[in-house]
Amino acid sequence: MDKSFLIMESRKSNAFQPISDALMIQMRQILGEQYLSVDETVRHDNGHDETEDLVFLPEVVAFPETTEQISALMRICNEAFIPVTVRGGGSGLAGGALPVEGGLVIAMKRMDKVVHIDERNFQVTVEPGIITENLQNILKDKGLFYPVDPSSKGWSFIGGNVNTNAGGPRAVKYGVVKDHVLNLQVVLANGDIIWTGSNTLKNSTGYNLTQLMVGSEGTLGIVTQIVLKLQPYPSQQLLMLVPFRSAESACAAVAAIFQAGVTPSALEFMERNAIEWAIRYVGETPVPLNDEDQAHLLIEVDGFHLESLYADCETITKVVEQFDCGEVFFADNDAQKTALWKLRRNAPQAVKNNSIYKEEDTVVPRYELPRLLRTVKEVGAKYGFESVCYGHAGDGNLHVNILRGNLSDEVWNNELSKGIREIFVFVKSVGGTISGEHGIGWVQRQYMDIVFSPIEMELMRGIKHLFDPKGILNPSKIL
Ligand code: LAC
Ligand code: ZN
Repeated sequence: MDKSFLIMESRKSNAFQPISDALMIQMRQILGEQYLSVDETVRHDNGHDETEDLVFLPEVVAFPETTEQISALMRICNEAFIPVTVRGGGSGLAGGALPVEGGLVIAMKRMDKVVHIDERNFQVTVEPGIITENLQNILKDKGLFYPVDPSSKGWSFIGGNVNTNAGGPRAVKYGVVKDHVLNLQVVLANGDIIWTGSNTLKNSTGYNLTQLMVGSEGTLGIVTQIVLKLQPYPSQQLLMLVPFRSAESACAAVAAIFQAGVTPSALEFMERNAIEWAIRYVGETPVPLNDEDQAHLLIEVDGFHLESLYADCETITKVVEQFDCGEVFFADNDAQKTALWKLRRNAPQAVKNNSIYKEEDTVVPRYELPRLLRTVKEVGAKYGFESVCYGHAGDGNLHVNILRGNLSDEVWNNELSKGIREIFVFVKSVGGTISGEHGIGWVQRQYMDIVFSPIEMELMRGIKHLFDPKGILNPSKIL
């Protein structure tokens, strides 16, 4: 798609300093001449992620290769009050990688090594710059499974996944990133290098710095090595696509599937527009779309024994039939499975191809999903915006894509946030929260007051201050 980016002047809070010539010389010495860039295109490429059409240009982009280089960079940036934003694959949807205060971007793409695969203990130690799917494929060749699979797995970095506590379809059975991280090497704001935990499955030793770091979006430290726990690769998967005549019934079927005793390895919801646009976007139609289909559930079960998976599918079929579904489609070969997953994984790009959009990452206790969908549509009608919803229904995690369409600047930039607020207030009222897996970053922080009291916010500010007293790490994010 032809994108016309809106390039913002990076803001400079008073305390932050520009990167001086003397600092440039020091940074070149640390990295080597060719790994520090002020080139306009490089700055632009590293000035946006996938969040709306936002671009903030950094002053300088660094491409380090070692933890020690990052440590040395942090030492001088901390000394000189230079804002530092760390960047992974750039697939973020909350603006976590946007260098909104300018300064230095540390791009992780050269730190892409698998440090050690410990097959005896089912663990892997990796650098943050490896693409998630590449890591998964390396492990799969050894019969090992790292299950967390965000839609962006083909281009997001494992480090970015850690920093946002990413999820994806398989989270419903296997959990999100936090459930797989054992230990992290982190460079602190002042350049000190720490390990947060231990390479063990159990650890009751002191405060849990590992979990504090997961999902902290580069605001507390820079993750430079990651120890992940693994499991045997499940050899069998069965996949089914179920059409429903009403989107709310599709959502209502979700909790019933679990209540029938089945835990699918993925349970994804797609509203009609989401699947229709994805079909158009990828240019393939693996299944016919009937006029009466208003939504689909894509349901996968996995394991090692086909017989028990077939039994699960039978149970699921009996459940969905109680929710006014159409004919259930079973993908019975790998090509069909790949085609269905391709549709689902391309939903974000398909939506983006239609319109600039704001992506909300609402999550509620699973049973509340039908009410969440209804609320989204009611608020949309009230404020005059259209939305396309899809997401990880089994987790109660609904991605609400609010389309820019023909909305005026005034509505898009100001009015809309009131509608989003109403949706988030509902989410909070039923025990949910405003981001399930994308993070808060830059674009969601204005809503943090909905989910946290002033006391809770103050605790978070205290943690930030302890780790980063000068506030140079990914400033203006989360808080
Ligand atoms: C997805 C991303 C947007 O689920 O989280 O496709
Ligand atoms: Zn998602």
